[in-house]
Amino acid sequence: MFENNKIRNFSIIAHIDHGKSTLADRILEITNTIEKRKMTNQILDSMALEKEKNITIKLTAVTLNYISNSGEKYIFNLIDTPGHIDFSYEVSRSLMACEGVILVIDATRGIEAQTLANLYLALDNNLDIVIAINKIDLPSANIEKVKNEIKNIGLNEKKAVCISAKTGENVKDVLERVITDISSPKGDKTKKLRALIFDSYYDVYRGAVVLIKVVDGIVKNKDNIFLINTKKNYLITELGKMIPQEIKTNELQAGEVGYLCAQIKDIKDIIIGETITLKEDQSIEPLAYCKKIKPMVYAGIFPIDNNDFNNLKQALEKLKLNDSSLTYEMENSQVLGFGFRCGFLGLLHMEIIQKRLEMEYNLNLILTAPSVVYKVFLKNGDCVNVDNPEKFPDLSNIKNICEPFVMAEISSPSEFIGEIINLCKNNRGIYKNIKYIDEKRVLIKYEIPLGEIIFLFFDNLKSCTRGYANLNYEFSGYKNSDLVKIEILLNNKVIDAFSLISHISNARKRGVYIIEKLYSILPKQLFEINIQVAINNKIVAKKKISALRKDVLAKCYGGDITRKKKLLEKQKEGKKNLKKIGLIEIPKEAFINILSIKNNDN
Ligand code: GTP
Repeated sequence: MFENNKIRNFSIIAHIDHGKSTLADRILEITNTIEKRKMTNQILDSMALEKEKNITIKLTAVTLNYISNSGEKYIFNLIDTPGHIDFSYEVSRSLMACEGVILVIDATRGIEAQTLANLYLALDNNLDIVIAINKIDLPSANIEKVKNEIKNIGLNEKKAVCISAKTGENVKDVLERVITDISSPKGDKTKKLRALIFDSYYDVYRGAVVLIKVVDGIVKNKDNIFLINTKKNYLITELGKMIPQEIKTNELQAGEVGYLCAQIKDIKDIIIGETITLKEDQSIEPLAYCKKIKPMVYAGIFPIDNNDFNNLKQALEKLKLNDSSLTYEMENSQVLGFGFRCGFLGLLHMEIIQKRLEMEYNLNLILTAPSVVYKVFLKNGDCVNVDNPEKFPDLSNIKNICEPFVMAEISSPSEFIGEIINLCKNNRGIYKNIKYIDEKRVLIKYEIPLGEIIFLFFDNLKSCTRGYANLNYEFSGYKNSDLVKIEILLNNKVIDAFSLISHISNARKRGVYIIEKLYSILPKQLFEINIQVAINNKIVAKKKISALRKDVLAKCYGGDITRKKKLLEKQKEGKKNLKKIGLIEIPKEAFINILSIKNNDN
């Protein structure tokens, strides 16, 4: 049994691509957690999507055995975390389970937006910090410059360890620092059990697998546990650690991190930040609750095949267990049928959820255009939160509308200042300030409507700065805005999936863009199709697709019945990908093309 002073719980935090997962790989190697021959790159990024996109999406917890330079045995619980802003919630959750962090800074890029955001999260949680300046094997590494930046943000640059996570140089020194600079867990194993749920996932056979950090006391296999928030009792059926594969144990004591299964089939019972205790100790003081996070971006998710609705429902329930920041409620669209209005932390989060639903649950989906939450104040004094253009109140009842703004901080090489200022201005940004981080890098601050940020801002920032700039933002408040509802009509019928709310200054342009796209995508049908754009109920632009008579059998006169059958089969196959709206059949691609903001170049 290990004493607490031989346990260290820590997380690796960094800006995206600074080398967290590579450092985690080296640590797994040094501690002989994974045999060299089984080692793959970024081994903790085990999700197929993480490998495909080469980014970390989910936190991963792993228990390691480390023998220090002085020959003492330690247990390290390492939690690898994502770097992208959309997943900062994953970082906060990992930090709940830690006493310290390794802050990785890329020696060729220096401190960036997410380095600071993650550092502040760690400081807010009173965590100890070990700084690792990474990628020193690269010729463009500039250690002195990075040390200067570290000093400028008030940390001790002299304590930074210079490493190469790729070659392994000095990585062992970082582990020694983990022992000396990160506190051991303070919990008391003689006290009553208090364990914190910091993550969970679904397993078909075992139900919810719950990741816990035992703060006080000891939890044993077959214990009767009590979930303080949901007030439910469960019998533990399995207890274990992740090394990184699961390994069963009989108990976990204060300071340790591991998992438990208790045949929890109702996955709504698992709340991240929840305190677990024993059935007989129900009156115990719960641990500090993790701040609930509010989604920033909303979109509708619909199955292409309406029969998949229940599968989508179950998939969302299971995904939510693994990603508690996802929210969803049922939605009924007149054209897309039954689906869900989902809330995401940002666009990347939205893309990842869509891909996970498609890859892990084999679903074929349509996503509607993302939207933020507008506050619409009515003449009768009420305020309606509009997260879906469908909920936009009748114009005659509206007094004024407010939209969410974010404080955006863009760090970039100074040569791109002009382009970035233009981009912010074109997206209705309000200038705040520009600061030089050093002689070559600037930090540009603008207040920008979130609705603009989710509309191609990232992509445009990337292209105008050749990928050198970084964006970090946080919600700054609601402001009054001139907003209108854009609707698209096909033969006088509003296609709700294409409705969107936009600032009046670019509403017409966005509407015209959609009808031009529809015009080029919609196949000719047996009757004429009128496509129209309405802004606040007034038609402002239109297009017409002329009729076509299409008889697939027209070419087969007489005899060959098998050929006729084949042609009809082929036509049936093609129809599977068509969505029927009134009499008009719209190919799935039309929705994807128009609703996918990536392709939306206005
Ligand atoms: P996210 O998981 O997306 O947040 O990124 P990350 O911080 O985990 O970065 P990752 O470990 O995936 O490394 C990003 C890239 O930098 C990869 O191509 C690594 O091979 C490379 N890299 C990481 N560390 C080093 C290093 O010490 N030297 C060199 N030359 N390359 C490195």
